[in-house]
Amino acid sequence: MTLPPPEASNVHTVQVWDGQTWHTLCAPDGANLRQLLLRHGLSPYTRLTQHVHCGGRGLCATCGVRLPADAPAPTHWHDRLAARFGYPRLSCQITVRRPLVVHLLPEKRIWGTRHST
Ligand code: FES
Repeated sequence: MTLPPPEASNVHTVQVWDGQTWHTLCAPDGANLRQLLLRHGLSPYTRLTQHVHCGGRGLCATCGVRLPADAPAPTHWHDRLAARFGYPRLSCQITVRRPLVVHLLPEKRIWGTRHST
């Protein structure tokens, strides 16, 4: 029996840092990152924005998370700008297609700050 190559897997590991603890999530291929985080009680929102956001439409930018430099390329106009200028990426616009490392932003108040590189 031959196993499929890892990149062909239907489930991907998503490592999430919440500022204090690493969490390991299993994401089906094609999962929406925002929905995955919320389903596991790891909200990308803050206390102020958890009830006031666009619901994953890519309009409010309150669902931002930090992704590594080799993160999936942005596909949404707002997420492209966020990636280009060093702001948090929109978790609602990220489709999980491979293993991923995600940093939540416990220090942010609404959107999160620009990443200095
Ligand atoms: S939930 Fe509004 S931009 Fe992601």
